[in-house]
Amino acid sequence: MTLSFPDRFDDDWDYMLSEPPDLLERLRRLRESKPAAWVKTWGKPTVMFTSFELVDAAFRDKETFPSAAFYGQTVTDVLGRNMQCMEGEEHRRNRALVSPFFRAKNVTAIVESLLEPLAHELIDRFEARGEANLVAEFTKIYPVKIILRMLGLPQAADDDVARWAIGMLDIQNNFDHALRCSKEFMAFVSPILAERRVAPTDDLLSKLATEEFEGERLSDDAIFNFLRLLFPAGADTTYLGLGSAIFALLTHPEELARVRADLSGECRWAAEEALRWSPPVALQLRANPKDVVWNGIEIPGGTPLIFATLAANRDPAVFADPDRFDVGRRPKAICTFGRGPHFCLGAHLARAEMDFALRVLLERLPRLRLVDDPGARITASIVPVLRGPNRLPVRFD
Ligand code: HEM
Repeated sequence: MTLSFPDRFDDDWDYMLSEPPDLLERLRRLRESKPAAWVKTWGKPTVMFTSFELVDAAFRDKETFPSAAFYGQTVTDVLGRNMQCMEGEEHRRNRALVSPFFRAKNVTAIVESLLEPLAHELIDRFEARGEANLVAEFTKIYPVKIILRMLGLPQAADDDVARWAIGMLDIQNNFDHALRCSKEFMAFVSPILAERRVAPTDDLLSKLATEEFEGERLSDDAIFNFLRLLFPAGADTTYLGLGSAIFALLTHPEELARVRADLSGECRWAAEEALRWSPPVALQLRANPKDVVWNGIEIPGGTPLIFATLAANRDPAVFADPDRFDVGRRPKAICTFGRGPHFCLGAHLARAEMDFALRVLLERLPRLRLVDDPGARITASIVPVLRGPNRLPVRFD
């Protein structure tokens, strides 16, 4: 049997070119009428799942929709072959070697030494002004610096590493520059890694250099590939998530008051609800490797897929009054960090970063409020499938 593409789209917006102005409304219509629908990405027919049930099942179905089928296409000399391009035993072993550092216990251990002090350090720089743009001055910087400090790279190189990390992402527009950034980054890390192999400290780079799983250690190449994944996977996502949480609170005064009344208890739930309400990876891209009939829909091999996390997280079959931002919701399961074997390795860290950044911000900046700016909103950021606030101009007393 050879499957063929349908002769019409259910929605002919090209989701990889830009974000439709009525994104939420479109996703709602699709979820109600056709939760597995034919849409477009890069001009190609693409299947998009919008219900919680289908997005959840698709993430978990590693046989039908292996992560490697999509990420394998992005392997280049710039980013290398990381765990997202692996399946089965190879994925299990590689993930096990880096997992210990990201467990809840280890994340709790770095709150006092890293997460809280860094939030204070960034706020110290603008507090006296009584105003700030929290995207440029806080949310964008915070997660990158956390990764750099966790790794234990010399702080003097923060700006260089941040520049290389951003340069490496721009593969499609500027491949030569991205490759140069990747090489410079590896040349910089290489001697530090060699040093940590012989004289480990307690930082993440030392752990990566010395951790053993079933008698195996990570090779230098595997470590470089993991490091180059950490920036897109761990920094951009958290920066957008933290921004959306701040935006949600500042535009929902009753929810903000509820959080302010109990910062140590409620910031974590404000973060969780923001991650449900506006997930940074709004549309997760995947690819279908071979002809399949899945949940009654014929999908030819080679078809791009979109798991619409934003739509799944607002499915009324799972979440009552789903469009409402409600800090008291306590959601049991959200699709924001993926599901199944490739579930986000940094989920504990991302949640803790957001929780403590919100606590410190709200504690330090009384009467924090958005400056009247009708253009400030949550929208496509960096690429059309990622979302966060375009700016967060604020004042405080
Ligand atoms: C709010 C912040 C974050 C969001 C929304 C997020 C989202 C995701 C999602 C959706 C996936 C699964 C992708 C897929 O199945 O194709 C994923 C995987 C991953 N994330 Fe995160 N992430 C966040 C923060 C972080 C952080 C802080 C780190 C580490 C510093 C991290 C490291 C990873 C890694 C290494 C993977 C690959 C796991 C694997 O393939 O087994 N993420 N993330």
